[in-house]
Amino acid sequence: MGTFSSNHPLKERLGGRNLYLIGMMGSGKSSTAVPLAKMLDYKFIDIDEIIEKSTKKSIQRIFAEDGESSFRAIEHQVLNEVGQHHSLIVATGGGVVTNSENWGILHQGIVIWLKLHKSDLLKRLKADSNERPLLQGKELASRLDKLLEERNQQYSEADLHISIKNESPKEVALTILTKLPSILKSLHDLS
Ligand code: S3P
Repeated sequence: MGTFSSNHPLKERLGGRNLYLIGMMGSGKSSTAVPLAKMLDYKFIDIDEIIEKSTKKSIQRIFAEDGESSFRAIEHQVLNEVGQHHSLIVATGGGVVTNSENWGILHQGIVIWLKLHKSDLLKRLKADSNERPLLQGKELASRLDKLLEERNQQYSEADLHISIKNESPKEVALTILTKLPSILKSLHDLS
């Protein structure tokens, strides 16, 4: 696979549409967003990072002190603001798909699902020191199972599904670039 220079024709064809990376915690949204943004000469942003900066609280603390519904409200507000901008690669939080109002914003851009098998997610999550409020406690596997059951249908609403095993973030970014033209074609056919 070759690399794409920042003035690759794809950039022009995207017409400034934001690319939203969605997927379960541990699927590598942020680490994939970085090389993808570089390849397309897009700006990378991370919704969770913006939430933490603007509230001056960690995600962990927001969940503990204000509850999940407050977190979801802030997440929606931040996504809404992000949606006013263009040419962004956006790493979302894994639960962004659970609020139906978020989909109106996501679908203004192109939504890309980083899809991993449960056993691979488990491996990654076990090796990851990030504190995730929804995966606290001992029963990581069953919590993950439950979330996947609740969310897989929602993730599958994405425009592009990228199946990942153990590819590096850069390889995943290149796969996305290879598959994007098919999406752009179908979007073009619809308009
Ligand atoms: C969440 C995922 C987290 C973060 C929060 C809730 C979720 O982001 O937004 O802990 O509901 O799946 P990552 O997917 O980046 O870990």
